[in-house]
Amino acid sequence: MSRPPSKVIYPEQPSNKDGQRNKEGLAELPAAFAPLDLPPPEEYFQRKVALISGITGQDGAYLTEFLLEKGYTVHGIIRRSSSFNTGRLHHLYEDQHERPNKFHLHYGDLTDSTALVFLMARILPTEVYNLGAQSHVKVSFSLAEYTADVDAIGTLRLLDAIRTCGLTKHCRFYQASTSELYGLVQEVPQSETTPFYPRSPYGVAKLYAYWITVNYREAYGMYAVNGILFNHESPRRGRTFVTRKITRAVAEIYENKQACLWLGNLDAQRDWGHARDYIEGMWLMLQGQGVNLTAGEQPGDFVLATGETHPVREFVEKAFGVVGIELAWSGSGVDEEARDVKTGKVVVKVDPQYFRPAEVELLLGNPAKAERVLGWKRKVKFDELVKEMVEADLAAVRNFVEDQN
Ligand code: NAP
Ligand code: GDD
Repeated sequence: MSRPPSKVIYPEQPSNKDGQRNKEGLAELPAAFAPLDLPPPEEYFQRKVALISGITGQDGAYLTEFLLEKGYTVHGIIRRSSSFNTGRLHHLYEDQHERPNKFHLHYGDLTDSTALVFLMARILPTEVYNLGAQSHVKVSFSLAEYTADVDAIGTLRLLDAIRTCGLTKHCRFYQASTSELYGLVQEVPQSETTPFYPRSPYGVAKLYAYWITVNYREAYGMYAVNGILFNHESPRRGRTFVTRKITRAVAEIYENKQACLWLGNLDAQRDWGHARDYIEGMWLMLQGQGVNLTAGEQPGDFVLATGETHPVREFVEKAFGVVGIELAWSGSGVDEEARDVKTGKVVVKVDPQYFRPAEVELLLGNPAKAERVLGWKRKVKFDELVKEMVEADLAAVRNFVEDQN
């Protein structure tokens, strides 16, 4: 018996009485919530509609560009803020009255279940990327409860919004998991099978998010995956993360606008890649490579990493090297400092306020599974990443560009 045509009006179809698309790209819903009459997944998946939480962040901006280029309709959740938080998206956003395109922003918050259910029901996404988080590790020690609410329970809220709308078989879910899960590392390098030992409220919150994603996959047969991503950086990185803090300071010091860069733990080692490379990996995880869904197999979780690790001190040296400043280090611990060899001026010092109550000393990832199953490989090398970030900050400082990141 053939199924009657679906009553759902997809957001990207003409939906108002003039035959024009709804300006916000949203589906029309009845005034009261009623179960959605969804078509079978095969029909539903002919559309390509992404919903991204954390769209205003570093990764959200790159992912939006990537998906729009692939022809997706992209919906993003933004938080209400008294100042603009959409700086990373300005180049993509078009006024829907003037130039309607496939990119839509909606107010919402990972702490607000009702808003998430409402957006899920109206957007009817085929892929959900949960990138939203209080993502700063040091800040999570000050805002432990809030971090748990957003990063842990927020993930549950988004997964439950999918269930509430009956979309468990109709959309795929990506969870932004993190190498911070490894914390006090139990083996080197870290892979998908390395036991977790988080070292911060952020890491612990992300541990809950990791497991609730696995649980919803196993309990409800959802296509839900964790990308366990090692640090990834770019000129769009927030300025309170160490790489961007360094590259901005190098540019300011070179242009004589700042005297000295104050840092915390110079010995910490990170596996740093370029955010753009990692975005592609996120998308690949939702495309079903290596998993036979018709045979009932479930998708797996993947590490994305470069397979190299570098101390913060090395990042500092390389960044100053891009503008031709050679450093000479002296002292140790809180008394360590670096001088510009040519001028003799101290340009790097340690301030213990940047130390963390519990530190993650070493991260080094093994991306072999992603390389084998997804065909993913990072393209940008460490030196290229440092150079790109310093050059972008130099251009910004010279042109008096004050980004809000
Ligand atoms: P980011 O630049 O800090 O962006 C975080 C995003 O989450 C922003 O859009 C932020 O909105 C949003 N957000 C914060 N609180 C929210 C809330 N209550 N409700 C909804 N959205 C909220 O982070 P990122 O570097 O792009 O990282 C993306 C995700 O990957 C995060 O979940 C992070 O924890 C994870 N991750 C990052 C890395 C990395 O190295 N970058 C590695 C592993 C995992 P505002 O712009 O309004 O603040
Ligand atoms: N932020 C910061 N500021 N970190 C410093 C500083 C400083 O002045 N000085 C030294 N560090 C050290 C930190 O102690 C840490 O060991 C390392 O530099 C990296 O710090 P961040 O750049 O803040 O990143 P993170 O590794 O703590 O966390 C980032 O990567 C995670 C993936 O491993 C964030 O993006 C997390 O959201 C992400 O999950």
